[in-house]
Amino acid sequence: MSIAPTPSPSHEPAQSPEERKEAAKRVGRMFGSIAHRYDLLNHLLSFGTDYYWRWVAARKLKGVLSRPGCRILDLCAGTGDLALVLKRRTPSEVVAADFCHPMLTIAREKFRRARLPISTTEADALALPFASESFDLVALAFGFRNLVHHETALSEIRRVLKPGGEIAILEFSQVRGALFGPLFRFYFRFLLPKLGSLISGVRGPYQYLPESVSRFPERESLSRTMRECGFESVAHRDLTGGVVTLHRGTRPV
Ligand SMILES: C[S@@+](CC[C@H](N)C(=O)[O-])C[C@H]1O[C@@H](n2cnc3c(N)ncnc32)[C@H](O)[C@@H]1O
Repeated sequence: MSIAPTPSPSHEPAQSPEERKEAAKRVGRMFGSIAHRYDLLNHLLSFGTDYYWRWVAARKLKGVLSRPGCRILDLCAGTGDLALVLKRRTPSEVVAADFCHPMLTIAREKFRRARLPISTTEADALALPFASESFDLVALAFGFRNLVHHETALSEIRRVLKPGGEIAILEFSQVRGALFGPLFRFYFRFLLPKLGSLISGVRGPYQYLPESVSRFPERESLSRTMRECGFESVAHRDLTGGVVTLHRGTRPV
């Protein structure tokens, strides 16, 4: 499960640029501190469902992945699992970008072992080092929630997308079901932080995961923000009873 802790509120409009910079640094340091255990914990704590979520996302994106000569950006790529499933579905160029060096180091090693030509770039999602209109798809798995300013990230993503290009955000959601909701929250808020801390050997980061999800905007609110940031055909689809949602949109032609 992209058990992605967040050490500070991720989208408070009142944050000054300095506060955002500090918050982003804390996010980077935190992922650096758990990078060595990140994959193990993801797969363990999600009971392997994280593979399925990324696989479904890649399958839903087959239209854009099959565009001839398309360019794909896996943003907040972490240890590269989304880039891997995307690359397995397209002969086109896939770039994995993240601002956390230890996470990208693990990603590079995985790409090498998988013998897949995926390039990596150390990059901040809020100031992307890519030319405007240079990607057909920007996809994020469990990274968007950790960004310290959603609107800035969305406008950067829009900038680097070609007209007609797509954004796909796979992210945790508030589970709504009357029975599954309370059960999931019990696991997510009480058991998962304890297991995460125990296995990672790092106290703290896994406490933040449920907090960051509860702070994350509801599906409809994120859709609204995406539209306000200039995306059209915005839609979302729940997976696994709404534990995770795939949000999509298009940069208008
Ligand atoms: C929970 S991990 C997700 C990793 C991967 N996408 C996955 O599916 O497991 C979130 C990643 O977002 C990255 N991240 C957070 N804020 C970022 C930013 N402003 N710019 C680039 N990467 C960022 C972190 O370094 C971390 O690797």
